[in-house]
Amino acid sequence: DKAGHKHFMAKEITEQPVVVAEAIRSYLPTGGDEVVLPGNLDFSKLDRLTMVACGTAFYACLTAKYWFERLAKMPVEVDIASEFRYREPPIPDRTAALFVSQSGETADTLAALRYCEGKADKIVSVINVPESSIARESDIALPIHAGVEIGVASTKAFTCQLSVLLMLALKAAADRGTLSDEDLADHAAALRGLPTALNTALDQDPAIKKSAQRLSETRDVLFLGRGLMYPLAMEGALKLKEISYIHAEGYASGELKHGPIALIDKHMPVVVMAPRDAVFDKSVSNMQEVMARKGKVILVSDDDGIAEAGDGTWSTIRMPHIHPSLAPILYSIPAQLLAYHTAIAKGTDVDQPRNLAKSVTVE
Ligand code: M6R
Repeated sequence: DKAGHKHFMAKEITEQPVVVAEAIRSYLPTGGDEVVLPGNLDFSKLDRLTMVACGTAFYACLTAKYWFERLAKMPVEVDIASEFRYREPPIPDRTAALFVSQSGETADTLAALRYCEGKADKIVSVINVPESSIARESDIALPIHAGVEIGVASTKAFTCQLSVLLMLALKAAADRGTLSDEDLADHAAALRGLPTALNTALDQDPAIKKSAQRLSETRDVLFLGRGLMYPLAMEGALKLKEISYIHAEGYASGELKHGPIALIDKHMPVVVMAPRDAVFDKSVSNMQEVMARKGKVILVSDDDGIAEAGDGTWSTIRMPHIHPSLAPILYSIPAQLLAYHTAIAKGTDVDQPRNLAKSVTVE
């Protein structure tokens, strides 16, 4: 049932304020700042984390690496399951292995989990399907509460994965004493305000649709982001290529001059994901390098960012202000809607893109 929407993807995008709220309520249940997990996980007894996943779930892990390192001062390795499983990586003592999967049935992720059995101190999974193989074979399975996701392009599962992973990083910070009470309270308050911010981002649909109209006429698109927005740049590119079949790449803004800048000319749209955060000025200078070569910039930022750097861009997409740690969750909305409207403009099959399956249960 598409609940009045043309596609499951549209329905699932608009469900995000509700399902993310549900995820937040279930891990921050008391109204206080304490993250409560189903199962016992004490991060003060762990020295490092290894995270493994595929596709969109892999980008959720890459985002979480920034959170765990910054908030909990915990070293994190992130790997693609199909690489991890055959590389035979050594797993040091006091390591937790964490697997992220919407379906809980992805063959490579499951094989990577089995490789860690008997080697990692704890096997933790972040899953959407509680009865899945990955959930059943973990010591602790953390549900993301996204509800059934039907569109092949993962949307609400991604933002719910991110929300749960951020709360897990906050739990790690609390266990390890790496964050002040004030910082923890700020994060909890920001998380509780997130559903409202997601709704405001969804209200930008008409502006995003206009930008997508322009994207649909191009052959290649570059997505740029720095820090927490770098994994989201890759996720935005994956979403776009997956459903619109336009070639897209996500890059760390700072890598621009190490190669991809050679691609920039007047035909190249560049989506810049840049909230007005600590690395904003650096993102802007990269963006100006693109504009100096006539690249067409779509700037996704907040009021301050657009006031400061919006001049001369091709278009801007305005997001509400948000705690910097939460920006990748909020900015997922324009990434998803850009892909969605571009695909609609191109007339592709949004819910069932060619050659793809919702759950990749074979290698
Ligand atoms: O079920 P999983 O989360 O393990 O699936 C992983 C990927 O196959 C999945 O995220 C895929 O990349 C999506 N189609 C992306 O939108």
